[in-house]
Amino acid sequence: MSDIAPLFRPLSMGGLELPNRVLMAPLTRNRAHSDGTPKAMAEEYYHQRASAGLIITEATQVSPEGKGYLDTPGIHEDSHVAGWRRITETVHAAGGRIFLQLWHVGRISHTSLLPEGVVPVAPSAIRAKSQVFGTDGFVDVSEPRALEADELPRIVADYARAAARAKEAGFDGIEVHAANGYLLDQFLRDGSNRREDAYGGSAENRARLALEVTEAVASVWGADRVGIRLSPFGSFNDMSDSDPEATFGTIYRALDKLRLAYLHVVESFPGSDSGPDELAALERLRGLWTGTYIANGGFNATRAADWIARGRADAVSFGRPFIANPDLPERYQLGAGLTTPNEATFYGGGTEGYTDYPFRAQEAA
Ligand code: PHB
Repeated sequence: MSDIAPLFRPLSMGGLELPNRVLMAPLTRNRAHSDGTPKAMAEEYYHQRASAGLIITEATQVSPEGKGYLDTPGIHEDSHVAGWRRITETVHAAGGRIFLQLWHVGRISHTSLLPEGVVPVAPSAIRAKSQVFGTDGFVDVSEPRALEADELPRIVADYARAAARAKEAGFDGIEVHAANGYLLDQFLRDGSNRREDAYGGSAENRARLALEVTEAVASVWGADRVGIRLSPFGSFNDMSDSDPEATFGTIYRALDKLRLAYLHVVESFPGSDSGPDELAALERLRGLWTGTYIANGGFNATRAADWIARGRADAVSFGRPFIANPDLPERYQLGAGLTTPNEATFYGGGTEGYTDYPFRAQEAA
């Protein structure tokens, strides 16, 4: 039998004691009210998953402009704070810990999802070959406009305000979403960033917005309660870079100085598995990071435990397995079978495929 014990070594992070290293990855589920307030069923959903070493919530927009999909939650209105507060309370009552993932989708949006007259914003006016889920199903993203340099302080302030609201809502910390082709990643990579100002050109310049946002959020929370998510080789949302290892080496080094709670890396993504060259580069990049490192992407318990045992990661986050197995850590610990997630209920809908996946105890009964 393989040794999964490393998954159950407690992990200290930012003054929090995680009882295991089986973390819940951020998962978009499109089940909030249309105004961005989490629904009551989200309380049960997160409560059911409170045995995760850490829950990282679904991506949550920092501003109306940052929204890109139907029925995703926000953290910019009082009603959002109230909805999230009920969620953090129920997770804490169950003994869990929960970080809020902050996102701004940038160019991955459609005008129908944005306030009247607002068009998606981006580092450069380059439309992604990508689709979003709107009121009429999947639609091509709208043509974005390039942000002016003097608008960027406003974007940073939107993140800082959202971070303060997350504190009001009782979260344990924040994850800055700088992965998967959304706004901060769009600035980072040269396939989407053709700017000629202080936010474009060199890798230092392209990393600037993500760093400013991270520092602003850290000034609200303390750096040790702020994590960041990156996807160095991800191509999701039409992303590319001419030299990913150099680009991400630059931001890893700059972030490492901030002494954050963690770096969370999407090492592989459904539909774009990392090849051997990418895995080798990810491993070299990993060597640049001295803090807590969370790996993500297509892991099972055995591989996760092996990565932790050899220090390749400190913890691993699981997405799809956590959708269908609310008691995932216990199942891994006992070597129990897993329920297969139903992809048809990933995005949108009600409690089916959301809060009705069985616990082991129910299966045994
Ligand atoms: C999605 O809604 O498909 C989605 C959202 C956030 C991600 C990745 C995918 O980071």
